Amino acid sequence: MERNLALEVVRVTEAAALAAARLMGRGDNVAADQAAVTAMRKALNYVQFKGRVVIGEGERDEAPMLYIGEEVGAAEVPRVDIAVDPLEGTSIVASGGNNALAVIAIAEEGGFLHAPDTYMDKIAVGPRAHGAIDITASPTDNLRSVAKALKVYVEDLCVIILDRPRHQELIRECREAGARIKLIGDGDVAGAIATAKEGSGVDILMGIGGAPEGVLAAAALKCIGGDMQGVLKFRNKEEIERAKTMGVTDLDRVYTIEDLASSDVMFAATGVTFGDYLQGVRFFSGGALTQSVVMRSKSRTVRIIDTTHYFEFKPKYE
Ligand code: FBP
Repeated sequence: MERNLALEVVRVTEAAALAAARLMGRGDNVAADQAAVTAMRKALNYVQFKGRVVIGEGERDEAPMLYIGEEVGAAEVPRVDIAVDPLEGTSIVASGGNNALAVIAIAEEGGFLHAPDTYMDKIAVGPRAHGAIDITASPTDNLRSVAKALKVYVEDLCVIILDRPRHQELIRECREAGARIKLIGDGDVAGAIATAKEGSGVDILMGIGGAPEGVLAAAALKCIGGDMQGVLKFRNKEEIERAKTMGVTDLDRVYTIEDLASSDVMFAATGVTFGDYLQGVRFFSGGALTQSVVMRSKSRTVRIIDTTHYFEFKPKYE
């Protein structure tokens, strides 16, 4: 791809973030998500490309917008695959917490794993620990290997883990190994990205979260030279059947970062609420400030974009 489309689609994540941020702290996950989805879809239809949604809001019969297979964009070329999460952290926004993002990733056709809407066991690290992870090994072995790569003691490491009952054993083992832990309520895409940010205070993400979020995290980490592996985790027979229809043959397969997001990958995210990586939306009289990140794997460029929006002068996406 010649153009850095992420520079164009940052308008799309900004639109979703601005819409969702209006509903911060209102206790309504569904409304916040819907606002982000509607705004993102409208804005996507102004981008000069043909994007096919491969990670989106769900199957066509259950999601009216940004469903898997939907085509968006204002042109016929370039044809790309897109992975979207208009609001990553619906509960975060509902409660006014930290680290909610509006996210989009772009790849050449076939570049993203068509991840079913199930769970994924994940392990993710930043560039300095690239090659030091193995999801088939124990958490203790991974902590030792990552500590070695980062030239620190295991006791210096901080593991970011979703605070869920299913992670009791993982948390116990990390504690026993001596590592420090940051438990988060939601938002493991932001958690994975934080491992790649110097000074974020987190070194490794472990545990089970959404599979679509796994693909988005892999796209971001690929752009910054991080590393990630994932294994799909199914909750029931229906999820297994759905995965099979989406082309998953080996249910226990270990997906590398290249399996999750390959080719020339681009990633854009805008902070909805304040976070470790990005500032959230801040409204002022007649406008708002947003902060976004735009990255591309081909060039490894990472741009932080601070934008001032004046609502009176903004284009109205219809
Ligand atoms: P939503 O924005 O869809 O609510 O996802 C938030 C999230 O915390 C993700 O970051 C994470 O991957 C997933 O939910 C974990 O799922 P669960 O809440 O079922 O444990």
